[in-house]
Amino acid sequence: MRLIFFVCLTSFLRAQSAVEYSIHRAPSKIVIDGKLDDAAWRVASPASDFVFNWHSSGDKEATIAKLLWDDENLYVSWWCLDRHISAYEKLRHGPVSRDDCVEIFLSPNPRKVRNYYTFEINAIGTMLNRCRTDWWTGPPTWEPEGVVHRTSLHGLAKKDESPDDKEWAVELAIPLRNFSRDAAHTPPRDGDEWRLNLMRTGGKTNAQQSTWSPIVPPAKSFHTPESFGKVVFVAQAGSRRRAAQRVGPAEDVIAGRDIYNRSCTVCHGLDGAAGDRAPALGAQRRYLRTSNEDLFDAIKNGINGTLMPASSLSDADVWKTIAYIRSLRATAIDVPVAGNSQQGETIFNGKGQCAQCHMVRGRGGLIGPDLTNIGAEKKLEDIRLALVQPKPHIPRGFQPVTVKIKDGRIVRGVIKNENNFSWQILSLDGKLHLLTREEVFDVAHEEKSLMPSDVDRRLTKTEFEDLVAFLARSSWRKR
Ligand code: HEC
Ligand code: HEC
Repeated sequence: MRLIFFVCLTSFLRAQSAVEYSIHRAPSKIVIDGKLDDAAWRVASPASDFVFNWHSSGDKEATIAKLLWDDENLYVSWWCLDRHISAYEKLRHGPVSRDDCVEIFLSPNPRKVRNYYTFEINAIGTMLNRCRTDWWTGPPTWEPEGVVHRTSLHGLAKKDESPDDKEWAVELAIPLRNFSRDAAHTPPRDGDEWRLNLMRTGGKTNAQQSTWSPIVPPAKSFHTPESFGKVVFVAQAGSRRRAAQRVGPAEDVIAGRDIYNRSCTVCHGLDGAAGDRAPALGAQRRYLRTSNEDLFDAIKNGINGTLMPASSLSDADVWKTIAYIRSLRATAIDVPVAGNSQQGETIFNGKGQCAQCHMVRGRGGLIGPDLTNIGAEKKLEDIRLALVQPKPHIPRGFQPVTVKIKDGRIVRGVIKNENNFSWQILSLDGKLHLLTREEVFDVAHEEKSLMPSDVDRRLTKTEFEDLVAFLARSSWRKR
């Protein structure tokens, strides 16, 4: 398409918006066994959208962390999608971050963020702790009281990478009394604020180095308490959102997408979009099978008399693909995304040039549709497609035209309205023109929408995913 160049090189020096999370009271008992199957975890809200602060190479793999509390403990869990799991350190307080490892650094006093406590746990369950506070006079390492932790690979002598690697998990319970010198109250009270960060390192392959709260440059270390995110303790139990419940836990959806993209795309197409040999699993169509049981039966046993084969997936993996298929049928906001929505916002306003034509929350251009609520209106796949494929027909209100007016002026824009006597044209500079048939010399309809259909090629893969994440999270609903 003929790209319109706007001389609009605004530098968006965006203030790093801090991430926030509400730690709800655990609605039921949590058993620390390295399995995240407790009812409490399944309803806790995910802290996902991890940021890859210093990424130079390797796959970015999803991490979902969750936090809960009760009168005794702060509970933390991590779920890590991981194709290359390696861990070797067995010595207490050894350098576990060289392995596949998860970490939490906590500042119980938000006015003294430099007083922070660290918990680093590798995939085979070795832990390292430090107490970095202005009152600590002990050795460089620290022995917290009563901590219980388990990983899904707990106690192995070592963990070498294997072709079967898929995911691993960590569960941690920290007695709150460990923080009594810095916290305002232990146990915390409703509304108490702490600061913390959650991290992940990747072992031999795919370094990850991802964090929940972005680390503000030029800092180059996890040990940057100024960059910790904000958490607020909420006395109310649970935080289950209705829609999330319908779709299934975020980690199942992400793992299910992975399984689907390895086993089902030959026929159904990548990301469930549509294939040559089988129906799209997430498109707008009437499905024969809607109940979980019917989907399970179709995937496990195949569909007799059709190309749909029985599969050799385990029952657990079949359930994950079902969570994924359900997510394809939900709107984007209820579906986990791989990209980082904060970085996506920067791309939307900057390199992507989207804000020239689109408004989000009252800021941006008028030529394209307002995208403020797109995450709640559209499916994730449809948002992706909108960026890489022209629509079959240009939607009403967005037909681009070039109008020659008898006085010699030329107006280029989109037709907002037309009738027998006049046109309403919104020109590219955002002005509305009411032109009567008498004034106009010629109206040339353009064939292509002004919406670029090569957004994926104008951005890097990561930038594209971040942009999709931003759109997926755009909604009037508060997250
Ligand atoms: C060899 C091609 C092929 C492969 C591989 C395949 N499918 Fe299918 N699938 C089909 C076809 C064809 C249909 C439509 C059957 C019909 O006409 O009812 C179908 C139908 C389905 C349906 C039912 C859709 C509905 O609601 O009516 C589901 C669910 C499904 N497939 C899931 C999967 C999953 C998950 C995988 C991977 C584990 C997979 N399929 C792999 C060919 C395939
Ligand atoms: C030159 C103006 C222009 C630019 C630049 C532009 N768009 Fe669009 N966009 C439009 C128009 C016009 C439409 C509606 C017509 C259509 O869908 O073809 C649209 C449609 C869309 C839609 C579909 C909305 C819906 O409700 O179906 C999405 C999503 C979208 N744009 C996102 C973006 C993103 C993200 C960027 C930046 C990479 C971008 N657009 C850049 C003009 C633009």
